[in-house]
Amino acid sequence: MDLKSEIKKRRTFAIISHPDAGKTTLTEKLLLFGGAIQTAGAVRSNKIRKTTTSDFMEIEKQRGISVSTSVMAFDYNNIRVNILDTPGHKDFAEDTYRTLSAVDSVILVVDCVKGVEEQTRKLMEVCRMRNTPVMIFINKMDREGIHPYDLLDELESELKIAVCPYTWPIGNGKQFKGVYNLFKEEVQIYSPEKTSVSESLISTKDIKDPKLRDYVGIENINRLWEEIDFVGSMFESFNMPLYREGYLAPLFFGSALNNFGVLELLETFLEIAPCPGVIQGSERLVEPDEEQLTGFVFKIHANLDPNHRDRIAFMRICSGRFERNKFYFHTRLEKKIRFSSPTSFMANNKSIVDEAFPGDVVGLYDSGNFKIGDTLSEGELIHFKGVPSFSPEILREVVNRDPLKTKQLDKGVRQMTDEGVAQLFMQQPGNRKIIGTVGELQYEVIKFRLEHEYGAKCTFSPLPFIKACWVTTDDKKELDKFIARKSGAIAYDKENNPVFFAESEWMLKLARENFPAITFHETSDFKIKALEK
Ligand code: G4P
Repeated sequence: MDLKSEIKKRRTFAIISHPDAGKTTLTEKLLLFGGAIQTAGAVRSNKIRKTTTSDFMEIEKQRGISVSTSVMAFDYNNIRVNILDTPGHKDFAEDTYRTLSAVDSVILVVDCVKGVEEQTRKLMEVCRMRNTPVMIFINKMDREGIHPYDLLDELESELKIAVCPYTWPIGNGKQFKGVYNLFKEEVQIYSPEKTSVSESLISTKDIKDPKLRDYVGIENINRLWEEIDFVGSMFESFNMPLYREGYLAPLFFGSALNNFGVLELLETFLEIAPCPGVIQGSERLVEPDEEQLTGFVFKIHANLDPNHRDRIAFMRICSGRFERNKFYFHTRLEKKIRFSSPTSFMANNKSIVDEAFPGDVVGLYDSGNFKIGDTLSEGELIHFKGVPSFSPEILREVVNRDPLKTKQLDKGVRQMTDEGVAQLFMQQPGNRKIIGTVGELQYEVIKFRLEHEYGAKCTFSPLPFIKACWVTTDDKKELDKFIARKSGAIAYDKENNPVFFAESEWMLKLARENFPAITFHETSDFKIKALEK
């Protein structure tokens, strides 16, 4: 098949949600409906139920050995579907944000009882930054939830996106009777007893269908028509360009647990979701059907199996054809490397691939060559705009507890921060290592992994800072003055960019006022902007 046809048949997306809204259940049901797995329970949940380290470690250990859950690919109706897994826990939100830089669209799951939640908002912000097309699945319709009108209002106002109902529910909770598909003009009846995957729906276009009247009741039918009239007048109708540009989100109602609304979601997704498109590089736009390969690493997974110390770098292919054993150009290290066993992930199996295409994700075994954001090409010096690192809000100093293992500690800290687990800053005098994160849990993860993978022991000592901001200026003298004045609160990131640690928002404001020639950055995208100049 030629490159253009391969691109056309691919859909690469992520399912995102606030924890507990039903992301894992929906993912599993999509795999079941897609024929990729045969039994429920085959997808390992990656969520941390109680936020304890032991739970997390157990899960990470399992995931480390079976990394296939990072990408779940399957073929459905001749379309290659690539689902990229995202962690649910908020302390790992950055990992999710980075994964979003590698997808062409997303399905956002919202719990009909809880409505828009904290992570829903944050994830949508990242989607908006990139104009990612979004479909929304309102889940748990078998529970008494917020009235759909109110829910739609909440989605529009809180997520700042126009919504367009694709289906409309008939009742909810115990009275949930099914959905009406506004596009196919068809009612699908919900039955709570139905658990089989094959076909859980009774569908009818005929409003006089006795089965429909018996099951739904005449009152419900009359209410449905009233509501549909209202919906038609109040909300946008589906518009492909607006969806593709990320302004309009088609909306579905269902119950993932009861297999209801999932097939419809999958089939509509395949119809409307975009195939791999143009990607904005820092130097130029990259078209997927360019002959030459380009791709970037958006995730690095440590292999926690002590027998296999290497890591897997996940690369999203942006253009061209990726081939096994061919030499590619690593643009940061400016060296050529090739891969003898690139891995693809089909549902729960991984296997070595000979070639892969735009939209695909390949796992590259790595002994330390890759950092998040690294690019491969066929010689061109190109970089892709990922999702920037966010300014860390918790900062702690690494205290070495075993001086004989200093080298191992250094190596471990460097490698883990390359993986994007946390950010590393160095402070002088004394080469102090400071680790910045957005969540508490990372410190436990780092400590555990240092001990188990690198044989090093450390503790973390709290620092009185609440934020780290990168500082830049065109006025070098002013920067030198600032650094001299604030020396106790200055450190350097891994690329030697100066960073200012603020003790409070007030101190940050004061520093901004006193040094107007200096810019304080709360995300790392100034580095990309510098490349664009
Ligand atoms: P997450 O990945 O977004 O964190 O959510 P997950 O799928 O794990 O679902 C969270 C809980 O919500 C699970 O229950 C799951 O069974 C339930 N759930 C998912 N979809 C539906 C639905 O359509 N209706 C109802 N009523 N519940 C749903 P749990 O008790 O936390 O876990 P489990 O013991 O059932 O696995």
